[in-house]
Amino acid sequence: MIRLGLIGFGNIAASLLELLSENLDKELEHLTIFCKPEYCSQVEQKLQNEYTNIALDFCITTNIDDLINSKPNLVVECAGHNAVEENVIDVLSSGIDTVVISVGALSDTSLAESINQAAIQGNARLILPAGAIGGIDLLASLKKFGDLEVSYRGIKPSSAWAGTSAASNIDLNAISEPTTIFSGSAREAAQKYPKNANVAATIAMAGAGFDKTKAELIADPNATANIHEYTVNCPLASYTIRIEGKPSKGNAKTSATTVYSIMREISNCIGPIVI
Ligand SMILES: NC(=O)c1ccc[n+]([C@@H]2O[C@H](COP(=O)([O-])OP(=O)(O)OC[C@H]3O[C@@H](n4cnc5c(N)ncnc54)[C@H](O)[C@@H]3O)[C@@H](O)[C@H]2O)c1
Repeated sequence: MIRLGLIGFGNIAASLLELLSENLDKELEHLTIFCKPEYCSQVEQKLQNEYTNIALDFCITTNIDDLINSKPNLVVECAGHNAVEENVIDVLSSGIDTVVISVGALSDTSLAESINQAAIQGNARLILPAGAIGGIDLLASLKKFGDLEVSYRGIKPSSAWAGTSAASNIDLNAISEPTTIFSGSAREAAQKYPKNANVAATIAMAGAGFDKTKAELIADPNATANIHEYTVNCPLASYTIRIEGKPSKGNAKTSATTVYSIMREISNCIGPIVI
């Protein structure tokens, strides 16, 4: 039985509860959801109407101390960069293992250092899931050898770039062919496109780092998937990975596979086999 905490209750969190209710052998012992005040009653209604069997007991709060005091075995951040900065440090320093899905937040060097210190102080683990991509296991292994060259291309339908800084430079409705909206380091990509460059950030964290990992972001009016491609060259191995992930129903910026990578982390936490 696991006590679970969630930070944020949007598309990923709702999909995660759906997956958990289909896959867990037993209910959660306790579920705490930390959300913004304006969402509390909506979240409560959802839990009462749609996820009645998910947990023996649940609590919805706008106070991070309530989440910490509910003593979860694992907290999952699925909110955004600001939540990593505002809440994850307290959770880690309280000794609670935390899955962070908004990996791009770690492109801020001083925040990354504070998070690292909080994990050391709390003797807790910061868990970075593969998110929308795969192959992170090999990349993280090769990091120990070093001498990595890594380049990433993220291609998403034009609609996925709505509301981003790309929309102020390009008329997304008018483009008729794939258009590069950003080319630079993974650090710049993560900072300019916080909701669309978490994959670049994960690849950077696993491999060559934020400054040495190259990133290109593309809006493609004909794309029906979020396409993530990356190439790794190093003296030990070279490989290219291309994933065509369907956008999630609730948020075109998020690939539907992302929530499954969080489910994997939870299964690895509670199951008899880690893979
Ligand atoms: N690592 C990956 O591969 C990957 C892939 C997709 C998305 N993401 C990240 O996951 C995040 C969530 O994705 P989503 O599709 O669920 O987005 P979403 O917009 O549907 O949901 C985010 C929810 O978090 C809430 N929120 C925002 N800031 C908060 C805060 N400080 N405290 C509490 N709640 C807060 C929002 O109100 C919203 O309900 C994205 O912002 C993105 O950074 C990562």
